[in-house]
Amino acid sequence: MSIEFNAPARTWTLSGGGTSYVLHRDEENRLLHLYWGRRLPSDALRWDPADYFSFASLDLPVNILPHELPVCGSGWYGTPAVGIRTAGGDEVTDLRVVSATVDAGKPPLPGLPATYTETDEEAQTLSVLLRDSVTGLEVTALYTVFEASGAIARSLRLKNTGSSALTVTSLLSASVPLWRSDLDAVHLHGAWARERSIIRVPVVPGDLRIASARGASGHEENPFLALCEHRADEHSGCVWGASFVYSGSFQALCHVDNFGHARLSVGMNPEVFSWLLEPGETLASPEAVLVFSDAGFNGMSQQYHALYRDRLARGSWRDRSRPVLINNWEGTYFDFDEQRLLAIAEKASGIGVELFVLDDGWFGRRNSDNCSLGDWKVNLEKLPGGLTGLSAKIHDMGLRFGLWFEPEMVSPDSDLYRAHPDWCLHVDGRPRTEARQQLILDLSRPEVQDYIISAVSAVLSSSGVDYVKWDMNRNMTEAWSVSLPPERKKETQHRYMLGLYHVLETVTSAFPDLLFESCSGGGGRFDPGILHYMPQTWTSDDTDAVERLKLQYGTSLVYPASSMGAHVSAVPNHQTGRSTSLKMRSDVALSGNFGFELDLAKFSAEELAEAKEMVSRVKELRDLTRTGTFWRLLSPFEGRYTAWSFVSQDRKQVLLCAYQVLSVPNTAPLRVCLRGLLPDAWYEAKDGRRYLGAALMQQGITVSLRGDFSSSVMLLKAR
Ligand code: GLA
Repeated sequence: MSIEFNAPARTWTLSGGGTSYVLHRDEENRLLHLYWGRRLPSDALRWDPADYFSFASLDLPVNILPHELPVCGSGWYGTPAVGIRTAGGDEVTDLRVVSATVDAGKPPLPGLPATYTETDEEAQTLSVLLRDSVTGLEVTALYTVFEASGAIARSLRLKNTGSSALTVTSLLSASVPLWRSDLDAVHLHGAWARERSIIRVPVVPGDLRIASARGASGHEENPFLALCEHRADEHSGCVWGASFVYSGSFQALCHVDNFGHARLSVGMNPEVFSWLLEPGETLASPEAVLVFSDAGFNGMSQQYHALYRDRLARGSWRDRSRPVLINNWEGTYFDFDEQRLLAIAEKASGIGVELFVLDDGWFGRRNSDNCSLGDWKVNLEKLPGGLTGLSAKIHDMGLRFGLWFEPEMVSPDSDLYRAHPDWCLHVDGRPRTEARQQLILDLSRPEVQDYIISAVSAVLSSSGVDYVKWDMNRNMTEAWSVSLPPERKKETQHRYMLGLYHVLETVTSAFPDLLFESCSGGGGRFDPGILHYMPQTWTSDDTDAVERLKLQYGTSLVYPASSMGAHVSAVPNHQTGRSTSLKMRSDVALSGNFGFELDLAKFSAEELAEAKEMVSRVKELRDLTRTGTFWRLLSPFEGRYTAWSFVSQDRKQVLLCAYQVLSVPNTAPLRVCLRGLLPDAWYEAKDGRRYLGAALMQQGITVSLRGDFSSSVMLLKAR
């Protein structure tokens, strides 16, 4: 049983994989948190206040208790998981448990992205109903524990059963006290073209907060925060991870209180979120996914990878090999016509590429980034046969055809904007702040959602499109919808996300065979929410192979290789000016969804031959990189070497990828210790050398890396 209620102890123990999570209903019907860590039997823990505080304190008892769902106003001074302002203007809430049920499987989270089960045996769900007797606020706290991993998906459903309006001022999908604070905090920080570097800092008394108020999860922070033991590394030590399945503004917090207890939280960002709940109305929080590992960060990441690859991503491409693609963006930018595109496509088809993606610039009068977003009509000057003509020619070459869109945006210089100047996010009487000469459509409005659905669908159903790159290239400003009354204005950002999810659900369900890849100026919306609708995301606009080591390593902390777009681009690299070999660029890109992003028509015959070999190698390896267990072995953040590996589910194959940035003379060759192999199996390399699994894991394997920006990709198979 995954969830057991121990009646004498009044505890629920949620167990799966190697993890348990224990809740307690105290004598006064408060919901307390007793434990989250290594698996324990359901009779292991009893609530004894003396365990938590065994001293006289002038602090209020309510502030000391390990609340599972803290609320404020009666003695709790931290950030409330559920903060409510009453019609009378006070912000006092008191939630008490009314009832609880345990069900097989996992209920859907309507309108929001969420993990799911395919059979009821995969998970169980505990639903705890709590009530504030004064306001009539009801909160259902949902906890799904996945049997195989022990990952816990949590969300809250709020209902106003009272007779006056309530305003939700704070909403955290998870807020979990750990009974200690001798910990480090780890998160993913960055910027455009430098997304998701791993940051690790010691936890200190007070608050650590990472957040986005941008209306997107953002380039700067990712909706993820982990706490770990000081001694934790990639392979050992305890790690507690919290990931937020949402694509908009968010916050993640670590608060250490005056008793030395750290609390890990993720949820909505109250700077840009509040919600009016009229009597009878409901509100669901997005989902948080909690993962515990006592095998270091690889142990945590592997649980996230499996869950997000197999039970968050959906659709017909979830379990399929992803096509090797070529995207024309860095190859041509806006400077193309049909002939130029076909010349690239022809070379691509000759080397075994499977999908040609036409990026920005095919519509309206768009010859630079200053116009036409919103006018999703093909530019017949550039493409005289229209998209249908182009896609037919591409298909005739044996390639699939893909198309770029940026559906959430509008250029002030566009027919759409001239027809509907009020459809963008704006505040009457204030200038409309432009970024990249564009404004954001107000997706909180149903008529805007309908327009996007019909404009995109019209192109998709008539043009022979097999793949969509769904881009979103700026953050929100003036995000206070003109269509909402003053008391609901602060709902705009969340209503936008709900609108976006509705659009994505509708479009992806209407075109179930299409492969969708999300993008946001590269990785500005690389989050679990988006992965629910589109199984892959363009990792970053930085395509430099050396920078990609950090980008892909950092991204892998939470996200599987199957979610990362990774392309070979031209040298000198357009973002860094660095030149690296085709081999290095390809060896980095094959760890994700491999593609090219350059003008293949400019390749020499030798380069084309090399590229052809790479493509056939990628096709050989791509199922292993998509479904294998990913191990981070050497960090690009710590030295000149990077190494990672993919181990097949039966552990009989391992692909070791190793890279050197700048070489150093007179040093011993690199040895890399592999992980996750069969200790007694003999693994054979391509050159016929054989290695015992245990030796590969304990003594390691020598990797030959010579010269700056060098790489080695080695496949070993058990015989
Ligand atoms: C963004 C994307 C790029 C490209 C351009 C087109 O920057 O990240 O890959 O599609 O937009 O304008």
